[in-house]
Amino acid sequence: MENPFVYGKVVRGKYFADREAEIAELINDIASGQNVIVFSPRRYGKTSLILEVLDRVKAEGLLTFYLDLFKVTSQETFIAAYAKEVARLHGGRIQNMLKKIRDLLPRLVPKVVMKGEKVDVEVEFEFDPSADKAPLLDDLFEAVATVSSQTGKRAVAVFDEFQEITSWDVKGQIERQMRTHFQMHEDVSYIFMGSKRHLMQELFRNKNRPFYRFGKHFPLEKIPEDEFAKFIQTRFEETGFQTGPDVVREILHAADDHPYYTQLLCHILWDRNQQEKIITKESITAALQEVFMREAHAFQGLWDMLTLKARQLLVALAKEEDTQVRPFSSDFLRKHNLGSASSVQRAITRLLEEEVLEKTDGGYQFTDVFFKRWLREM
Ligand SMILES: Nc1ncnc2c1ncn2[C@@H]1O[C@H](COP(=O)(O)OP(=O)(O)OP(=O)(O)O)[C@@H](O)[C@H]1O
Ligand SMILES: [Mg+2]
Repeated sequence: MENPFVYGKVVRGKYFADREAEIAELINDIASGQNVIVFSPRRYGKTSLILEVLDRVKAEGLLTFYLDLFKVTSQETFIAAYAKEVARLHGGRIQNMLKKIRDLLPRLVPKVVMKGEKVDVEVEFEFDPSADKAPLLDDLFEAVATVSSQTGKRAVAVFDEFQEITSWDVKGQIERQMRTHFQMHEDVSYIFMGSKRHLMQELFRNKNRPFYRFGKHFPLEKIPEDEFAKFIQTRFEETGFQTGPDVVREILHAADDHPYYTQLLCHILWDRNQQEKIITKESITAALQEVFMREAHAFQGLWDMLTLKARQLLVALAKEEDTQVRPFSSDFLRKHNLGSASSVQRAITRLLEEEVLEKTDGGYQFTDVFFKRWLREM
């Protein structure tokens, strides 16, 4: 039997829990042409959520476009990836598709490639790397809106990990060009997603940036505990396991209700207890020990790289039960003997850059829930 708990990749269908309120809100926004900026810490489920939303609106007859900027590292790879997604806007026969692409993107030369054994056709593009890219980008940034008006379908265009654009579009030229086009498109709802909070804030909250006030901000929170608990219990029971509400709460507690780490813990629990098919509080403790063993090398490596101040601060943060501590308060500094607020500030800045910590509305949290638990046990 297959493990019903999936982590580390996009979750769909029965592997996807709840998010009904978020789905409804986003569908509503899309229907009214609202632009939205979705942000959350790493691995809260942004991509899974938006792909679920896109499936649903597509079924309602909308045009959908999804571009992930995670692997895009230059203007050239951006153009190639963008054009490929534009090609996907037109399903249907390849001849038809090619003709339409030529109309939309006249400056690109499409190349049809066969993938694998089944005849799975994809379009890739060639272009003159020395030519001026601005007109080509103009074509790309108009493409979704053009197809939308040609087909009479409202559209939604998603840019996942959008903050990555700042790493190669250093002067913000592409950003500016995008905004110039996108702001004219009334029938397209643009959705920008990202996990690096400080970069997302910079892109959308700084008055001097092109995308300042471009859309509604949508912070994605954890999955509500009751809903997540129901999901976990159902998954276990459907596969013949015994659990109870108390044990499920304990799992959620051990993983701080974090979507990814909760699934990871459940996955291990399911694997370890396949014989007995029963999950108890003891099995949770044992599963956590397994996590620590698996991760010991990585955690130790990370620990070795940290400055003394960072170590002291992390241990102090890990010990706090409350996830929303204010690390600059004099109480906290005194209690943990941390010295001046400014030195703690410097340590935090670096820990945020290195993504050991993440900023939340109320304070700071560990990116890796189990690293925090490991520190607690040190
Ligand atoms: N609605 C959900 N139901 C069940 N599990 C979920 C849900 N959302 C997220 N997860 C868990 O979190 C993991 C990460 O999800 P996903 O990749 O969608 O998040 P993300 O926020 O896009 O992450 P990243 O920051 O890496 O881009 C999934 O593999 C799954 O284990
Ligand atoms: Mg993602």
